[in-house]
Amino acid sequence: MAIFFQICFVILSFSSFSHCLDNGLALSPPMGWLAWQRFRCNTDCVNDPKHCISERLFMEMADLLVSEGYAKAGYNLISLDDCWLDKVRDSDGRLKADPIRFPSGIPALSDYIHSRGLRFGIYEDYGNYTCAGYPGILNNMKLDAQTFADWKVDYVKLDGCYSFPSQMDKGYPEFGYYLNRTGRSMIYSCSWPFYQLVTKMEPDYATISKTCNLWRNFEDIQDSWQSVTSIIDYYGDNQDTLIPLAGPGHWNDPDMLIIGNFGLSYEQSRAQMCMWAIMASPLLMSVDLRTIRPEFKAILLNTEIIAVNQDPMGVQGRRVYKKQGIEIWTKPVLPKSGQRYSWAIVVLNRRVDGTPSQVTVPLRELGLDSSDGYHVRELNEHKDVGIISPDQAIQVDVNPSGVVMLKCTIIRVPPFTP
Ligand code: GLA
Repeated sequence: MAIFFQICFVILSFSSFSHCLDNGLALSPPMGWLAWQRFRCNTDCVNDPKHCISERLFMEMADLLVSEGYAKAGYNLISLDDCWLDKVRDSDGRLKADPIRFPSGIPALSDYIHSRGLRFGIYEDYGNYTCAGYPGILNNMKLDAQTFADWKVDYVKLDGCYSFPSQMDKGYPEFGYYLNRTGRSMIYSCSWPFYQLVTKMEPDYATISKTCNLWRNFEDIQDSWQSVTSIIDYYGDNQDTLIPLAGPGHWNDPDMLIIGNFGLSYEQSRAQMCMWAIMASPLLMSVDLRTIRPEFKAILLNTEIIAVNQDPMGVQGRRVYKKQGIEIWTKPVLPKSGQRYSWAIVVLNRRVDGTPSQVTVPLRELGLDSSDGYHVRELNEHKDVGIISPDQAIQVDVNPSGVVMLKCTIIRVPPFTP
């Protein structure tokens, strides 16, 4: 880190703040728990102490992340979102948490989360205020980056309300530079392209993907299937732009997993999990882990699906078929055999006509052409389909607003030696 930082500093003397993020972090899509989608800006700890944004909430979620097996499955981050701050900075100009809701202070919360073996994330905003009206970092970037390092923050989500999208090309790299300059490794999550796209600006993705470990480019997820499918459509319709940006250390972020909340059915929850996995998306749950029903918990803890998401090659999946409500998405994964890959395939049924749709998955047409065949497994049901050669048809029944997810592991035949 220190060496990297010096190199970065030298480059900076000659150029802008860009091209400085090579922090070695987020080599696979980040996984963890974020407060926003489920708990929003509930600050009423008098009437709703269990659900308000308070240190108690984050400590309870940290405990459950560990005790319920989420951390073991890879969800290793607990992150604050908006509404953790006091409305004013302290007398030294430093950010501080709301003293009533975070009586022990952020350093104590950070220590607590670290003592559970987890990473600690924080939320701020590039503008004058956060989206909910708390102090932003504008004009205090250096101090705030240092404050986060002092608090042992591991992940920073930097929102973009109350700021000018036209200034973000300078501002986001500048804050990234100050984060790096602290010498503490912090994953940097940016909302930069989203705010620019809203104002019809063309995001400079080359710089964004060198500056941020992940970035939002579409609207906030809401607690509905309609919202989930609008995100899937955005990722499919813009895949030629988005896919090349993703890879180890830098990811498109389609926003949180809403599995286990109020808006998705069981099938739709499976669909969100499989789609986020195949899109190599960050897996950031936002759900009440104290009350989540077992069937939704099992979806979030499906280690075979998580493994596809976390595949070391880090290739974002592609929509290769879309017709009459049926979509097929594919993603190359390890292991390889020679130049050929294994593949994950999601068949997504957007239809609502009340009965499962039978879909034929044509391996060769999808680019799976290894004559030695593939060991095929369905990942939701954890069932082997068998050894399938490229010209054999796989028939799957896909439930309305549901998915089938196949992992096709290439069969590696040892080279023949006479
Ligand atoms: C924006 C972000 C959300 C959340 C809220 C908080 O809308 O996109 O993810 O952080 O702000 O106010």
